[in-house]
Amino acid sequence: MTTPESPETELVTSIANELYAEGPVAAVPAWEPPPLPDLSDPPVSPAAGLPMDATPRFYFLPDPPPPPAPQPPPAGLLDVHAIRQDFPALHQQVNGKPLIWLDNAATTHKPHAVIGALLEFYSRDNSNIHRGAHALAERATDAFETARGKVQRFLGAESPEEIIFTRGTTEGINLVAQTYGRRFVGPGDEIVVTELEHHSNLVPWQMLCEEQGAVLRVAPLDDAGQVVPEEYERLLGPRTRLVALAHVSNVLGTVLPLGPMIAQAHQAGARVLVDGAQGAPHLPVDVRALDADFYVFSGHKLYGPTGIGVLYGKRALLEEMPPWQGGGNMIDTVSFEGNTYKGPPVKFEAGTAHIAGAVGLGAAVDYLNRLGRERIAACEEALTAYGMAALATVPGLRLIGAAPGKVGILTFVLAGRTPQEVGARLDREGIAVRSGHHCAQPALRRYGLTAAVRSSLAFYNTREEIDALVAAVRKAQRGS
Ligand code: ALA
Repeated sequence: MTTPESPETELVTSIANELYAEGPVAAVPAWEPPPLPDLSDPPVSPAAGLPMDATPRFYFLPDPPPPPAPQPPPAGLLDVHAIRQDFPALHQQVNGKPLIWLDNAATTHKPHAVIGALLEFYSRDNSNIHRGAHALAERATDAFETARGKVQRFLGAESPEEIIFTRGTTEGINLVAQTYGRRFVGPGDEIVVTELEHHSNLVPWQMLCEEQGAVLRVAPLDDAGQVVPEEYERLLGPRTRLVALAHVSNVLGTVLPLGPMIAQAHQAGARVLVDGAQGAPHLPVDVRALDADFYVFSGHKLYGPTGIGVLYGKRALLEEMPPWQGGGNMIDTVSFEGNTYKGPPVKFEAGTAHIAGAVGLGAAVDYLNRLGRERIAACEEALTAYGMAALATVPGLRLIGAAPGKVGILTFVLAGRTPQEVGARLDREGIAVRSGHHCAQPALRRYGLTAAVRSSLAFYNTREEIDALVAAVRKAQRGS
């Protein structure tokens, strides 16, 4: 049980004091609605006579345009109150109270820039892609492949061919398990995970182990929610084929030390997949600096649409992996004698993609770049520390996860109240949190729990909202 006097409280209070300082506030340009597409004057189709257009087009001309010159990151802290104007869903009442959205680890709200990109795509450019020699096919293909380039630069990948669009994190992990895993993991081989993984970074590996006769090994956590380094190192060996690590825990907020963990796995000869579902939204990512073999994330947790996600893979690995789903788009030639397949990324993108989703994700990436990813990380780390310190003042409240540098997640249980009761009480105050097992049952079990309350933060949350959360938790405790 955490009390105001406990060492855990002192730790989070000192982190908060260290991190949370007022500073210069940078202006964020106001959002303006995109002009409605002028349907009376659509771009001229290049289909009739090629080449006809100096603008590089992905579908008709193979070379993508050069990436924009890197912009220096904006200076100063984020102006949260200005940023909130970009998110229409934040400005509503729930149960007669202003909405306080603290369920960002489940999904984030969308800025006007993303909503506008979807509106514009469906209002003007909607078409299938990589097929059809007509103007809308070209525009839609161009928009889709431009989004791929944005994601490539967002992750620091070497080439757009290393970026595969998926439905989300879960699909990306299953893709790797069922292609790379089936080909390169055999009987007696080992896959290493940690105790804090989300079910989507556990179950696909358990299924693969069962199918292939491989063994799953689990690196344990300490009381604060950190992976025990010696235990992790001890698990790596000549039979380790794959290591699957969360970037950030969705239930503890722990940021894993990926650099050393990946280097150690590579020394053992293993490949590493990073589940970035809770990492990419909060922290800058550079897959080449990390030397990650695979990195996956979801669009909807990154202020983009649902149903779109990304699998990054090193090109050499993607080349040697077999295709996953078969169908249209991914083939080169098809005959009854045998098929040939395209190379990555299309080899892994059978069927019609979530084209508008990719375009919306590209807009989300642009938006985050405009805010500055270092500034987002600093803002959220400070807000997390503030929230930990504030919640720790509530008698009878036990915080789960106290790793230094944790980000985005405030998970707790309250003596005498079930997590479901607390969640329902908070909802009456307009506060949205998640109650339950958070798709990470082993992590909660480590702390003797089957369920907990999780408030999860984004850069658009404020200290006032945290204060309202704490006041509402106190009410829940009193039963008022
Ligand atoms: N994976 C999401 C979460 O942790 C849904 O809440």
